Amino acid sequence: MLADPHRTAQWPPRLRTAADTAAGLEHRFGALTGEDLTPPAAQREALAEALTTVPGLGALQRELVAAVRDHGAAVLTGVPWHDGSLIALSACLGVVTAEDNGSPCRMVWDIREDPQAPEDPHAQQRDRFDLHTDSTFSARPHDTVGMVCVEPAADGSGRTLLLTADRLVQALRATGHEGELARLCRPDFPFGPGHVAGTPPHRAAVLRIPDGPARVRYRFDLLHRAVGHSSAHNLAAAEVRSALAALAAVETVLADPRLITSLLLGRGDYLVLDNSRVLHGRSAVTASTGRHLRRLKLRDRTAANPTSRS
Ligand SMILES: [Fe+2]
Repeated sequence: MLADPHRTAQWPPRLRTAADTAAGLEHRFGALTGEDLTPPAAQREALAEALTTVPGLGALQRELVAAVRDHGAAVLTGVPWHDGSLIALSACLGVVTAEDNGSPCRMVWDIREDPQAPEDPHAQQRDRFDLHTDSTFSARPHDTVGMVCVEPAADGSGRTLLLTADRLVQALRATGHEGELARLCRPDFPFGPGHVAGTPPHRAAVLRIPDGPARVRYRFDLLHRAVGHSSAHNLAAAEVRSALAALAAVETVLADPRLITSLLLGRGDYLVLDNSRVLHGRSAVTASTGRHLRRLKLRDRTAANPTSRS
């Protein structure tokens, strides 16, 4: 096994799934499919049953929820990765949705190399995937994202990259980008399907700095292109220039490897992120080594629309 100094890092915290908890999840839920557990009511029932039948699950889920709330992210080790087990485990975090999770969308989306993949090419190819948040251009991005490792790349490539919005804000200030930071907080960046004729983009800020942790919504390639087309959406040329300059400042900060947490997910490691507080990405996969992750996307239970399931 490759030595991994980042394994000992304090962030994100690591929580261990006991063997009997993992076995209990697999025994009861491992055969269930994403389709079985698509209705939010089915997820609530699975969660209630899991809490009474799977040893140690309640305490583990409380730890996981608290870790994501307090730190923005956590890694749960020893997690089983079949659809039903993952969904029953994750239901404590919100409602798992297939919406915008791969193409065609799935409750649990397999991330592995597919050079022929026409959609979401970054996730399924070998190139570095720059730091971003997920579902950036959805009308409302997902609240939580989980990725479990089924098989790491044998050569240690494809490392997961992480950065909190708080650190991004600190770094922008520390590098003299106060003006760009203020620009990023203005809620006029065009997110959404502006390329669809007749569909106005949703406008929002890239960064928000409320009383609590900073919030972020960011994917450079899509955002840069959308801003570049903003003149078609009544954004003045000066506003377009300042928005592009602000995005460039973010890219400058993100290029500093000292800021970025890099970790190699091992088999059964389940990374859970607050998608509004933590940017994630991936270093290049340098060999065709069968790297395989599985991804879930969740909405907060209070905000999820139970009638929106297809
Ligand atoms: Fe992503």
